[in-house]
Amino acid sequence: MSAPSRKLLVVCLGNICRSPTAEGVLRHLLAEESTDLRIEVDSAGTGDYHLGEPPDLRSQRAAKRRGIDLSGLSARQVRRQDFDEFDLILAMDRRNLADLEAMRPAGSRAEVRLFLEYAGEPGISEVPDPYFGDAGDFDRVLDLVTAASRRLIERLRK
Ligand code: 4NP
Repeated sequence: MSAPSRKLLVVCLGNICRSPTAEGVLRHLLAEESTDLRIEVDSAGTGDYHLGEPPDLRSQRAAKRRGIDLSGLSARQVRRQDFDEFDLILAMDRRNLADLEAMRPAGSRAEVRLFLEYAGEPGISEVPDPYFGDAGDFDRVLDLVTAASRRLIERLRK
């Protein structure tokens, strides 16, 4: 019997750098290595600054260097229904987590956690915002998100 499907939402501030990167990496890893797992992945932002925009070109380039195409994604904002539609909502940093907890409707069912903590990534609990950084900061996001996504998939497998 196949595992029950689970819905996972990854969240950052703008939904143009970190969370679309995590969405792309998770989809890539799930499709390449874990076709037995039925996990649906989406991403969203707590803010509304970039609605409808594709991921930041610096994120797209960093992902493309690893064979991951983010070009088809477009930014959306977290909505109230997300807290009932998704099983798990994972925030990139503590500010995102606090914003999610503030907008979470009473009695909604999603588990809301920090992405790196839930994945069990050692020594670090937040994915640093690369928006005002350089290409190296975007590569660091890819490294961190890829390592954590592998751990997350192993956790979800159990
Ligand atoms: P993200 O990065 O939250 O990883 O998508 C940011 C994108 C845009 C802004 C800040 C962070 N901004 O201030 O517009």
